[in-house]
Amino acid sequence: MNEKLLMTPGPTNVPKRVLDSMSQSMMHHRTSEFSSMLSQLSERLKYVFQTSSDVLTFPAAGTGGLEAVLVNLFSPGDRVLLVSIGVFGDRFAKIAQAFGLEVDKLEVKWGMGAAPQAISDSLKDSHKAVIVTHNETSTAATNDIQKIAEMLRGEDKLLIVDAVSSLGGIELRMDEWGIDAVVTASQKALMSPPGLTFISLSERAWEHIGKSKMPKYYWDFEKARADLNKAKPQNPYTPAVSLVAAADEALAMIQEEGLENVWKRHELVAKRVRSGVEKLGLKIYTHGDYLSNTVTAVDIGERAESVKAMLEKEHGIIISGGQGHLKGRIIRIGHMGCIDCEMADRTLRALEDCMNRA
Ligand SMILES: Cc1ncc(COP(=O)(O)O)c(C=O)c1O
Repeated sequence: MNEKLLMTPGPTNVPKRVLDSMSQSMMHHRTSEFSSMLSQLSERLKYVFQTSSDVLTFPAAGTGGLEAVLVNLFSPGDRVLLVSIGVFGDRFAKIAQAFGLEVDKLEVKWGMGAAPQAISDSLKDSHKAVIVTHNETSTAATNDIQKIAEMLRGEDKLLIVDAVSSLGGIELRMDEWGIDAVVTASQKALMSPPGLTFISLSERAWEHIGKSKMPKYYWDFEKARADLNKAKPQNPYTPAVSLVAAADEALAMIQEEGLENVWKRHELVAKRVRSGVEKLGLKIYTHGDYLSNTVTAVDIGERAESVKAMLEKEHGIIISGGQGHLKGRIIRIGHMGCIDCEMADRTLRALEDCMNRA
């Protein structure tokens, strides 16, 4: 039994109820029992994505979901505008390049979000899509997707959003805001074990999918959608049955709490963490206009790695360090999914102790 408290930006703590849901005897994936669980999960996912479109489930890390979206929506040589505000934006760009897309990258200073005007200024007629990270986990900065979507309204460009570390923790309304593709993963705000990626696409995105010439087999969205819409919904290939059970249970918990209440809880805990960090005399790394409700980055200089290690060894609390050039300079405290103020306070008390001794 793992007594450690995961205060990382994923994987996050999994509630006991969700863990228990995986301990039932193995279900076969071509049975009615599995079909009804998959269709229930799909309906619950629509609620969390705030969409009436299908939400596809694949066994994969979030990175697989990002790749899947690109190979389904585009053809080699298509030109896209990729807005990067940190490590995960950079990764999305690398995946797009690996598949032969022509990527124009708008690089935003780390710690900031992207200004819609800057995106608008970089847009060219030849861009087929704008690709953007909702919550940049490496810098703890959140982009204002609603404003970006508003700026793109009326433009013939797809809006593709990496919501891996936001969906379920930070407000995101796919249909109302007009987003064409949303990708997330199970192990973050959806408080499930790692291993599933979830993807939803607008009608306009499905039209692009019909024209895509990128090679694909496992990731074929048309096949996945056809199987999901059968009288007995299923996945094309053997799904991660136990993870589907876990995600279904976790999403039931989100539904019971109410999505807006879940967003509010994340905001409350995030504020608690940020004010606690500031009371300790520490500096928040991220610019004040883009603060994330799922992760906080704290600029603590060369003590970062030793404080992280001490928190784990002496307090059983796992946090994350910096990525890229922020390695060894910041710590990142995740607060998403199964999270409350008590967990935040315990982390802050432990952080104070470690800072005093580091
Ligand atoms: C914003 C964002 N995008 C993509 C990923 C990649 O997800 P995975 O590690 O599941 O591949 C992460 C993981 O932390 C993330 O935070």
